[in-house]
Amino acid sequence: MKKDTKMYETVSLMMAKGKGLLAADESNKTAGKRLEMVGLPNRAEHRQDFRELLFTAPGIEEYLSGVIMYDSSIKNSTDDGVPFPDVLMSKGILPGIKVDLGTKDLHGFRSEVVTQGLDDLDKRFAEYYELGARFAKWRAVITVDDELPTDECLLINSIMLARYAQLAQAAGIVPIVEPEVIFAGSHSIEEAERDTTRTLQTLFSTLIKFRVDLSALILKSSMVLAGDQHPNQSTPNQVANATLRTFHMSVPHEVGGIVFLSGGQSPKRATENLNAIAKLGEQPWPITYSYSRAIEEPFLAAWQGKEENMEVAQKMLLEVVKMNSLAQQGKYDPDADKVLK
Ligand code: 13P
Repeated sequence: MKKDTKMYETVSLMMAKGKGLLAADESNKTAGKRLEMVGLPNRAEHRQDFRELLFTAPGIEEYLSGVIMYDSSIKNSTDDGVPFPDVLMSKGILPGIKVDLGTKDLHGFRSEVVTQGLDDLDKRFAEYYELGARFAKWRAVITVDDELPTDECLLINSIMLARYAQLAQAAGIVPIVEPEVIFAGSHSIEEAERDTTRTLQTLFSTLIKFRVDLSALILKSSMVLAGDQHPNQSTPNQVANATLRTFHMSVPHEVGGIVFLSGGQSPKRATENLNAIAKLGEQPWPITYSYSRAIEEPFLAAWQGKEENMEVAQKMLLEVVKMNSLAQQGKYDPDADKVLK
């Protein structure tokens, strides 16, 4: 594969110290679930308001290096007609695009799925590049229980991720590869560690076989923690140690960076865990946040879909990303924080 130094610049901008990503890349259906939380029907105009408020919030560029969008939002504009990618670029925030088309059942395999969306992906990448996208995301879903994930599920999802990553890099777009190990479940932290390690080892051996340039690629990972139904919920210190052990066992040092999803943890817990990871010191890769729910939920709670709350909601967004910026540097004080819950 030809080396494109622009992608390395993109990686270093994305992983700038004290900054992280906002994953505002919900499909129209999932965006509807967010709007439901504030009593708004799932209509295009409300999805637009939601994204416009997020992207135009004053000051977010201090804490966000990039925003991941969805097909309908990268092609959308503000009420004044400014395309969303232009709003972001004018603040120095890189536009990104989620390109997978969701999951389908892996037939013959209980409760396992494979991600769709490779058809014509080269053409879609060319279009997204023109629209301003400089990085992309593809999410695979990995479920943990006594028998799962199977090796076959890990293999097929890794091959899909590798093909996606090849096509992204051929288009000059930095791929984020996201094998989300699902938090929901009754698995222990030890099981989460074993299966996240297996997942990442399969993924990286496949990416290497398929000649993906690891320096122009970012891993989006789950934190390693006991399932949400497990009686012993993991402490920040346990999460930090298990997560970093997992990465050291499976992620090559060339990888451009690692970002975390929040995965259904409360905003405060996701922030506290990131802080505990950063407190363990410098790692071979820059590490930061790429949250959706843990950033958007406090914003939505403040907004409630009401015009009179718009300013307060944007200020809340700024507070949340500021806390995560501090956590990214190991400087977050959960006891002093009265904002996040
Ligand atoms: P959450 O932070 O809500 O888990 O979402 C991140 C994401 O991008 C999932 O694909």
